[in-house]
Amino acid sequence: MSAKPSAIIFGGLNTCSRALAALLVPIEGEPLVSHLRIVDKFSVSPPTTYIGSEFPKVLEKPNVEYLQVNLTVPSKVAPCFEPPAGQEAYSIVFDLTGELQWDRSDEVQIKFTFSTARHIALEAAKHGVRAYVRLQLPFYECKEKGTHDEKEDVKPDGVRGFWWHETLRMLASIPDLNLVIVRPGMVYGPYVDYGVVIRFMAVAATYGYIKQPMKGLWGPGKHPTNTVHVDDVVGAMWAVAQWMGQIGRKEANSIAGEEIVYKAEKNKTTTEGMAPPDQKCIAPLFNIVDDSHVSMLALGNTATSLFDTSFEFHNFIVNALSAWKLEDNVEEINESHVVNWTEMLAKSDPPVTKIVYNAYMDLDHLKKHVVAFNAQKIKEVVGYQLRRPQINQETLQEIIDKLKAEGTWPNL
Ligand SMILES: *[C@@H]1O[C@H](CO)[C@@H](O)[C@H](O)[C@H]1NC(C)=O
Repeated sequence: MSAKPSAIIFGGLNTCSRALAALLVPIEGEPLVSHLRIVDKFSVSPPTTYIGSEFPKVLEKPNVEYLQVNLTVPSKVAPCFEPPAGQEAYSIVFDLTGELQWDRSDEVQIKFTFSTARHIALEAAKHGVRAYVRLQLPFYECKEKGTHDEKEDVKPDGVRGFWWHETLRMLASIPDLNLVIVRPGMVYGPYVDYGVVIRFMAVAATYGYIKQPMKGLWGPGKHPTNTVHVDDVVGAMWAVAQWMGQIGRKEANSIAGEEIVYKAEKNKTTTEGMAPPDQKCIAPLFNIVDDSHVSMLALGNTATSLFDTSFEFHNFIVNALSAWKLEDNVEEINESHVVNWTEMLAKSDPPVTKIVYNAYMDLDHLKKHVVAFNAQKIKEVVGYQLRRPQINQETLQEIIDKLKAEGTWPNL
C-alpha cells in the first residue's frame, strides 16, 4: 500500500488544472500522489486547446494519465472512477468543471456547470472519496467595503454566477460528500490564458508599445480587484484536500462550514437535483487571495510599469445617467489594442505564429467587477501559507518571460 493518495482532476484544463497537475506531479522532484488522472473534454495530443509548454512534460510522467471524456454525458462519468490495474481507488477528487463563458444561457450553464458537477459528485460520494475539492471561480459582485470573509454576503453575477453558486448548494446538499470549496480571487500565472489579468497585461503591453498611457474605465479605481497566483489556487486546493481527508465532512462543517444561501433574482429556472431554496446548505468554504489586496488602480499601475508606461482613467464618467453605453462601445475600445497587438506579434523576433494571447477585452472584461476576499480563514484553520503573497513586477515579468520562451508573447 502506498502512503500517498491518488487523485483525479475533472475539467479546468483552461483554468487551473495544468498548474494543479504540475503541483501534484512536478516535472522535477517527488510526486505528492501515487497516481494522477486528469479528465477533460479536450484532446491533449495533439492539443485541441492551449495547454502551455510545461503541461506536456507533466503528462509524460509515468504516474500521470489523461482521459478525453465528454463529462456532460452521465454514463461516461462512472468509468472515470475505475483506477488502472494495480492502482488503489481514487481518494481525492478535484472538481474544476464548469462553463466559463459569461454570456451562455441557463440551459448551457445547467448542462456544463450544474449537471456535470452533480454527476461527478454523486459518483464520488458513492465511492466514498476522502476529499472532494470544488473550485468556485469569483463570479460574484462583492461589496467594496467590509470584512470580505466567507460570511460576507456576495451576489452571484448574472446567469453564470447563479448556476455556479447553485452548484455549490447542490454539492453541499449531498450528505456523504466530503466537500470542501476553494474560492479564489482573480487568477493569474504562467500559462494561464484564462481571466482578465492576462488580457489586461496584453493591453498594457500595447500602450507600452505605442508609448502612451493606458486609459482605464471606472475611475478613481479604488475598488478591489483582488488577485491570486495560480500556484496559490492549486496550493490551497491541495492543502484543503489533506485537511478534509483527516477530519471528514461533519467535522469540517463544524469547523469551517458556511451557509450557502439561495440567490435567485430574476432567474427562476430550475433543474433536477437543485436544493430547495429554503434548504440550509452548509459546506466548508475557503477564500484564497494574495496579500496585495489590489485595487483596479494598483493593478493598472503594476501592469503598465512593466511595459514602461502609466495608467490613467478616461475623463468621462461612466454611469447610468450618461448617454455613453459600454455595450455600444466594445469594438471601438478594442480597435487600437487589437491593431497594435497584431503589429507586435508580426514584428516579434521570432514572430509569434501561434496566437493564444490577445488584447481584446470583451464586454465582461470591460465591466466594473468588484472582487474582494479575505484569505485569513484558510491561513488560520488549515495553516496555509501563500507561496506568492504579492502581485508585483517580478511575478508578472516571470509570466511574460515564460510566454516569450514558448513563443506565445511578442518579443520586441
Ligand atoms: C458531449 O455530449 C453532449 C450530449 O450528448 C453533446 O451535445 C455534445 O456535442 C458532446 N460534446 C462533444 C465535444 O462531443
